Amino acid sequence: MVSYEIRCIECGQVHETDRPAYACSSCGDLLEAVIDEDEAAQLLEENEYDSRPLSVWRYREAIPVEEETRVVSLMEGGTPLIRCRRLEEELGVKNLWIKFEGTNPTGSFKDRGMTVGVTKALELGMKVVTCASTGNTSASLAAYAALADLDCVVLIPEGKIALGKLAQAMMHGADVLAIKGNFDQAMDLVMRASDDLGMYVLNSVNPFRIEGQKTAAYEICDQLGGTTPEVLYIPVGNGGNSSAYWKGFKEYDTMDMVSGCPSIRGVQADGAAPIAAMFEENSTELTPVETPDTVATAIRIGNPANWTKTVRALRESGGAAFSVPDEEILEAQKFMARLEGIFPEPAGAAALAGLMRDLEEDLVDRSSLIVCVSTGHGLKDPDTAISQSVRPRAIDPTMEALSRVLGGPKE
Ligand code: F0G
Repeated sequence: MVSYEIRCIECGQVHETDRPAYACSSCGDLLEAVIDEDEAAQLLEENEYDSRPLSVWRYREAIPVEEETRVVSLMEGGTPLIRCRRLEEELGVKNLWIKFEGTNPTGSFKDRGMTVGVTKALELGMKVVTCASTGNTSASLAAYAALADLDCVVLIPEGKIALGKLAQAMMHGADVLAIKGNFDQAMDLVMRASDDLGMYVLNSVNPFRIEGQKTAAYEICDQLGGTTPEVLYIPVGNGGNSSAYWKGFKEYDTMDMVSGCPSIRGVQADGAAPIAAMFEENSTELTPVETPDTVATAIRIGNPANWTKTVRALRESGGAAFSVPDEEILEAQKFMARLEGIFPEPAGAAALAGLMRDLEEDLVDRSSLIVCVSTGHGLKDPDTAISQSVRPRAIDPTMEALSRVLGGPKE
């Protein structure tokens, strides 16, 4: 296994790795796994990682999990990076790709983090795993906990998660608790309960989740034939995934697998945009949004747990966070579905909505290599999709009726 330390991102304090830790015991800031990149690169090459199929575990030597630990996997990662020619034409850009994370086993990018996080839960001998969730984290954790034979308790905001995600968590046998409050309150409760009730927290404050999610950045570079994107658009909720991508790109660069890193543009929804507000106001402190609201329920978060990490990542990358209105998210969702055959959930269209906004404001070079990350599948949230589509027309089962509605023979 690669050498690594669990370190505080602010004061650098090193924490023990044989027990759960989610925050610095000295200063309270977030923790991260710092791997020895040179060693990881050497191990990856020695083991001919590039002959393995694309997947999270293709990069096993760069993931801090003991060699003898049983890996809990549903074959996550290896998601398509799709060149979007019709969107390129429509938007007037030259080199646009969508990384479609909705094709992961439970339909979102969370599976990359969960395969590593639940594997770590086994390594640490935990019996119960838990999370607060706007939907996808709970769906993913429930599936991996089932496979690992662990008890799973998920806290969701009552009435505010998309139906498909709720169905997943229930079907996989999690204990689903609906909090009479929002995600931020559920998150707060999970963090307070974890120690007392002996549950392993698998929200993205868990540094091992990020170790799984960083592989998406490695994977994009490999799919582009050893090149990094110039600009990457990504939705931001709690801020775990955007910081994971930045970690992945930086590590891959340090390992000499590629040269350079993209600037990362984090996209929030107007009604839940505390990190975007920090960039707009050039502030160093987060002001939580008390009652966040957006059609993109996955990112309906007012007090992002990872804000320090993601603000640092976006700034270091030369990027920023900004926000877009719900109408633009829904428009981007339709664009993806109708021009490219890709069906994302609303949050999974936020990155494209961000690109479209940047193009309008002339903030991005139209010839650059652009990747938009589409984080979750549209089937998760059928209600939103149906509510903005034309309803099926009911007709009699006759040729005459069919011909009438179609307006005669087609060309
Ligand atoms: N896109 C989707 C589809 C998500 O489900 C989430 C987060 C994000 C983007 C934002 O990622 O939080 O790492 O910045 N969903 C979490 C959940 C909060 O509970 O499923 P982030």
